[in-house]
Amino acid sequence: MARCYFRWHRVLICVCTPCIFLALLFVYVGLTVCMSMRSMAAPATEIMPKSPHFVANGILRNKSFAPLPKTFWENQRHKKAFWNQLQLVVDHQFNPILQPQKAKRSMKNSSFDDFLLKKSFSAVRSFDNVRYNVEELPERVQDFTRYMQRRDYPVLLQPGGECGAQGKDEQEPPLLLFAIKTTPDNFNNRQAIRQTWGQAGWVAGQKINGSGRDNGGAYVRRVFLLGKQNTKEPGVDVSELLKLESNFYGDILQWDFEDTFFNLTLKDVLFWSWFSHSCKQTHFVFKGDDDIFVNTPKLITYLQIQMEKPHVKKNMHNFMFGDVIGAASPNRVNISKYFIPHSFYKGLYPAYAGGGGLVYSGQLTRRLHLISKRVHLFPIDDVYVGMCMVRLNAFPTHNHAFLMFDFPKNEGKDPCSYHTILVIHKRSPNQVVKLWADLKHTQPQCRDVALRVEEKKKNKIISSTLLPT
Ligand SMILES: *[C@@H]1O[C@H](CO)[C@@H](O)[C@H](O)[C@H]1NC(C)=O
Ligand SMILES: *[C@@H]1O[C@H](CO)[C@@H](O)[C@H](O)[C@H]1NC(C)=O
Ligand SMILES: *[C@@H]1O[C@H](CO)[C@@H](O)[C@H](O)[C@H]1NC(C)=O
Ligand SMILES: *[C@@H]1O[C@H](CO)[C@@H](O)[C@H](O)[C@H]1NC(C)=O
Ligand SMILES: *[C@@H]1O[C@H](CO)[C@@H](O)[C@H](O)[C@H]1NC(C)=O
Repeated sequence: MARCYFRWHRVLICVCTPCIFLALLFVYVGLTVCMSMRSMAAPATEIMPKSPHFVANGILRNKSFAPLPKTFWENQRHKKAFWNQLQLVVDHQFNPILQPQKAKRSMKNSSFDDFLLKKSFSAVRSFDNVRYNVEELPERVQDFTRYMQRRDYPVLLQPGGECGAQGKDEQEPPLLLFAIKTTPDNFNNRQAIRQTWGQAGWVAGQKINGSGRDNGGAYVRRVFLLGKQNTKEPGVDVSELLKLESNFYGDILQWDFEDTFFNLTLKDVLFWSWFSHSCKQTHFVFKGDDDIFVNTPKLITYLQIQMEKPHVKKNMHNFMFGDVIGAASPNRVNISKYFIPHSFYKGLYPAYAGGGGLVYSGQLTRRLHLISKRVHLFPIDDVYVGMCMVRLNAFPTHNHAFLMFDFPKNEGKDPCSYHTILVIHKRSPNQVVKLWADLKHTQPQCRDVALRVEEKKKNKIISSTLLPT
């Protein structure tokens, strides 16, 4: 009897021990998988890059900063943000896995794109939590959401000739079009640009590091992008003067919307459309603000050198460079001009080139024009360009000679410092005129300095929170 009992006991132990081990192993594996899923789906805002600038070598497809959710469960996190929700409805339609047929649909069917943007509005407005959130948004953002469906603003003034009026005596297609955002009041800024770095016509280049053709140069054109004067703030009416200015210089492109900060994105979208119709031949666009200084002779040579590089030529449809800000978090300080509340946008911004001055190819401009019909307007203009770029699977390349935040300490005191840069942001019209004259004077002594290649101080963190207000 006892022997029998022990035999059973042994069998029980033999059978159960592996079962217990298996169960333990199962629990362990389960826990490990859960932990790794959680760490993969960690909120995007926790990823703080050491350096906000990423340098994509040449034209790399760097996907690490893509703002799109990496996994399906991440979508849930953005449920309550108005813009994310709207865009999700549109992106869903072009998801090549979920909707292979629609995703392939011709990029040229813009009536389908219009229909989709409208549809996403009615879809999202019916979500209770989103409607509640829109009512809670600050007044300025609410105003933006009221008008963000509209893009068909008529042109008020435009250059006479095709792609600007300055193209009369050109012997070859223009290399560069300066497209500068300005406001009706800023006549001084426009005039300083016309007289200095923004001269249209044939412009001589300047050797970089001893390379570039002797007596090289190229045709350059210029256009200013404007809305109409803001009627919400009282001010002197300059609309008649602007008409005279447009007749005289032929470089004004003005649309019938109010020229406010949150309407700046409209200038990009409408400019891309105008460029796609009027500027078939232009190789590059320089898009910038009216308070910058550009070393145009070096920029021309720089672009010519780029055009000769085989890997750049091959990737011309993705060509964009400037001062790239990677993975910035939206500004959450409610008194800032850049303030974007959580209820409007969640997650990081995609990598984007600072809007003060950046260069992209004509080919990319036409692609941006098409993709922009599938991306809802966003109140911050340069971030919007980044959002379009991600959806083209294209990424801007950082260039150390584009300084959106001025020179690092003391570097600007060097007499040759302006020969080492291509673009620098914030300079007043008077400073621009003086700098241009200085650039000419110092040319003999500074002709051999190289372009800036690397920042001397690497650890400064720039996020959009620290941008000047
Ligand atoms: C993308 O950018 C990140 C951050 O700078 C960098 O570490 C990574 O190597 C880049 N990837 C590629 C493929 O260049
Ligand atoms: C374009 O899209 C509209 C709206 O969905 C559709 O009715 C039309 O048939 C499409 N046209 C083409 C050529 O696909
Ligand atoms: C200029 O020279 C520096 C090194 O002196 C080099 O790193 C840089 O790429 C050169 N720039 C161009 C445009 O050739
Ligand atoms: C943008 O322009 C439109 C048309 O003039 C205007 O009604 C709207 O208030 C402007 N939006 C913002 C955010 O200023
Ligand atoms: C801004 O935020 C502070 C608290 O962070 C709050 O006290 C204040 O009322 C807010 N201002 C506006 C205009 O929402």
